[in-house]
Amino acid sequence: MNINLNVNDHPLNLEIHPGDSLLKVLRWQGFFGVKHGCETGECGACTVLLDGKPVNSCMLLAAQAEGHAIQTIEALGEHPQQGWRSTPGLHALQRLFVESGAVQCGYCTPAQILAAKALLDRNPAPTEEEVRQALSGVLCRCTGYLKPVQAVLRAAAWLRGEETEPEDEAGFGLPPSQPGPEPGGFASAGEPGFLLETVRRVMPKMVATPQTETMQHVGKPEPKVDAVKLVQGKPAFTADVEMRGLLHAKILHSPVAHARIKKIDASRARALEGVAAVLTWQDIPRVVFSTAGQSDPIPGPLDSFSLDYKVRFVGDRVAFLAAETAEIAEQALKLIEVEYEPLPALLDPAQAMQPGSPRLHDEPEYVNFAESDPSRNLAAHIGIDIGDVEKGFAEADFVFEEEYEVPKVQQAHIEPHVALTYWDEDDRLVIRTSTQVPFHARRILAPVLGLPVKRIRVIKPRIGGGFGGKQEILIEDVAAHLTIATRRPVIYETTREEQFIAARSRHPMRIRMKTGVLKDGTLTANAMHVLTDTGAYGCHALTVTGNTGHKSMALYVGDGPYRQKPNIQFVADIVYTNHPPAGAYRGYGVPQGYWALDRHMERIARQLGLDPLEFRLKNALRAGELHPFSMAWSEGREPRPETIQTCGLEECVRQGRAAIGWDQKYNNPDWHAGGFVGAGLPSPYIRRGIGAALVMQGTAIPYLDMGAASLKMNDDGSFNLLIGATDLGTGSDTVLAQMAAEVLGVELDDIITYSSDTDFTPFDKGAYASSTTYISGTAVTHAAQQVAERIRQRAARMFNQESRGTPTCVPPSQSCVLPEEIRLMDRMALAPDGRSLSLAQVAHHALHHADQEQIMAVASYMSPVSPPPFAAQFAEVTVDLETGQVVVDKLVMAVDSGVIVNPLTASGQIEGGLVQALGYAVCEEMRYDGEGRARERDFNTYHIFRAHETPSLETIFVETFEPTHPFGVKAVAEIPMDGVAPAVGNAVLDACGAELLDNPLTPEKVWRVLHSTSGHE
Ligand code: FES
Ligand code: FES
Repeated sequence: MNINLNVNDHPLNLEIHPGDSLLKVLRWQGFFGVKHGCETGECGACTVLLDGKPVNSCMLLAAQAEGHAIQTIEALGEHPQQGWRSTPGLHALQRLFVESGAVQCGYCTPAQILAAKALLDRNPAPTEEEVRQALSGVLCRCTGYLKPVQAVLRAAAWLRGEETEPEDEAGFGLPPSQPGPEPGGFASAGEPGFLLETVRRVMPKMVATPQTETMQHVGKPEPKVDAVKLVQGKPAFTADVEMRGLLHAKILHSPVAHARIKKIDASRARALEGVAAVLTWQDIPRVVFSTAGQSDPIPGPLDSFSLDYKVRFVGDRVAFLAAETAEIAEQALKLIEVEYEPLPALLDPAQAMQPGSPRLHDEPEYVNFAESDPSRNLAAHIGIDIGDVEKGFAEADFVFEEEYEVPKVQQAHIEPHVALTYWDEDDRLVIRTSTQVPFHARRILAPVLGLPVKRIRVIKPRIGGGFGGKQEILIEDVAAHLTIATRRPVIYETTREEQFIAARSRHPMRIRMKTGVLKDGTLTANAMHVLTDTGAYGCHALTVTGNTGHKSMALYVGDGPYRQKPNIQFVADIVYTNHPPAGAYRGYGVPQGYWALDRHMERIARQLGLDPLEFRLKNALRAGELHPFSMAWSEGREPRPETIQTCGLEECVRQGRAAIGWDQKYNNPDWHAGGFVGAGLPSPYIRRGIGAALVMQGTAIPYLDMGAASLKMNDDGSFNLLIGATDLGTGSDTVLAQMAAEVLGVELDDIITYSSDTDFTPFDKGAYASSTTYISGTAVTHAAQQVAERIRQRAARMFNQESRGTPTCVPPSQSCVLPEEIRLMDRMALAPDGRSLSLAQVAHHALHHADQEQIMAVASYMSPVSPPPFAAQFAEVTVDLETGQVVVDKLVMAVDSGVIVNPLTASGQIEGGLVQALGYAVCEEMRYDGEGRARERDFNTYHIFRAHETPSLETIFVETFEPTHPFGVKAVAEIPMDGVAPAVGNAVLDACGAELLDNPLTPEKVWRVLHSTSGHE
């Protein structure tokens, strides 16, 4: 049919299919700022304005938009500098999103900005509540919404002509060991004063270390280097390309949990017009591999095939095909005839381990790793003994034992998995993919595709969130096999339902704790036994569960003599079942460990009448002590001793307890009973509670992962920074550029960062294990130091030529400048005698004038240590005793992540992590029926937090200077995931005595416990 659309004030006459959605037509027309994350009306990423009102363009037929004014993000503003053409620049909302740090991955950003614009157009002075309501239709998995809300309120103020406080002047300067503002001085969401606080306080509180005081860029809240393009909705993501002859791929997923494929007939599908290829297991080579994107050798079993004659979970691959359109591909899927020979489904890991249970992996190609044993459905086993726990239990006055459970949850990045493959003009296979691990992807895919590594090029564009979900070789092989089969470009984008049924998730676990304690609260022994359900494949099986013990059980060593010789045991079985496979998810096994460990510590403290914070600190690891697991385990490698150099945990507790008002609230019956119902009336059924959890993580994987950087100087004194590291929205491109700018004495926009492309950027292990700022950051710093050295040498030669008229200068001549005396700052090389050269002059000299050379350097870094960040996390909750409803009112996190390179991006990481972890605490869970079928298949049934539902969030950075990094940094990205669930669990216990042993704390569970006679599950 023919339609006329008015998009951004331009008329478009288009031939479309009557069933085409507005989303599809707009993207087809190149409006790539319109994103999609579900196509079922739940995520809001596809928001456009229709006659000024936000609508989900996926839910509207294009034909329905005829006669209406359509606005996309492309209509708003543009980069303020466009050569000789003057422009009005960015819209205030776009500018404030950039300046406020409201952009992380940026996938939801165009939709958030349009939703906000609609609000401000009709209401120039909205309240915070109104802003949150306006943004509530757009899901964001990265930011926790605080900075987007701040950006909108600041933009509104600016548009009204009011002044807003500069971002870098609010919130700094909290001295060490001083209490924060008086409890009650902070208004909570919904209370008077909160709006003011939210508008002003873009920056987190900092307890700063003195080492960075004189730095120009490190420690400064620089806007993200990619934010300007993301607020414009530029075509930066994998799917934002047009390509002639592009085919659309689809997968036929298994409807049964466990079966052998007796017969598969794709002839009818192949015969359908528009179908280019259908592939079954009979059509491609049978190459066993692991989908886990990890270093070589993969620390886990090789147990996967691109296509197999057996299916092992509902959602497993049966066939894939490519067709001219996605609609034809969908139609063709229905024409593939499959006969299954059903096998018993194993849905309980304890049962799956029993002798005589059916075996999931009986394929002869299976390759063991360490103690995996497919005959017992064991993907991995871990047994670690530090000291002697039995002796420790014998010495204890009390022994506490309990079993805890954690559910399967999803990364739920808003950009689904997407990969696009094509042969280039040199017959090399190009894989453009939304991946966290481009170099691992290339290495792992080469044998699967029958190509040498050198004939594969992996390009990673912007990533719309990953959180570990994209540390997996999950879809690239599908598109690549189809490109090989058809010789044509192929795109494979997963649907939201496929994300839920066939992508990866956090491992569910049953965790048994046994702890020995003396009367004074000294731990004498601590044991954790874990049973993990890895699902049908063992991707990340060993390493995720290893971290469950390694990074949680290491925190508590005991006190007195036990501190020098702790007794810790960690035993884990990681078992195959017919559930969808679990994998990497931000926190990487550690949130599971802390749910059990910290809830257990709380029980012990309460039962012994000890102060819960003092009890934890008494037994916690300290600086100068050996990481107790460092001699016992290292992700499948040889362990080596590591001493903790920096630990700000005590200060974190001090700052956090002051910020949440712990001393006024804990054990205060008046405060606990002071809950209100809707109309603001006190209610006997409402109880308030407060809880805390202490946590530690790691920073990178020692002696294993490596990052590299190359840095090249341009004529104008700018630099190209090429890194293999992958910024998945975390801001790593920005912080790496800040480190380079600091060393080179230039502005951040003089560093042109590019990541990553396996053809052009040096190797990097990718974005995982909280390693980029630490590992890749050290590589960048070393490369920048080499370049700086070359600049100094050339500048010295130029100064000395200038002063003596000769190319050489022999010290100690007065006029002679030595390279090491030259300082680089403000884009200049400064001699001690006051003379200066611009870096552009130095670059011109090097490239054009004398002994020409390209000033550039490459450096790489691998770390021998993994310095842990530490944190104290606090939660304040309200529990409705009648319904079991838990409302989390406030989350505070005081964290020692070493030096904070960029407080704006780092606090964004914390806020986003807190809200993601809040889902783990109270509502997120993937459940399956008795046949292994997923119950949660969309964002309607799987709830992630929206803008109007989030609590008050407060971040405090307690800086330490980690001496193993040039700028003193430790990791920040994963640790916020670790302590929210136990802190909320502890707060619920504090509020009403309900002892829940498994998360999430849903109203049903809380209600059931409140109405049970025992008071716990
Ligand atoms: S893509 Fe339209 S609401 Fe998700
Ligand atoms: S910034 Fe919102 S989804 Fe990533």
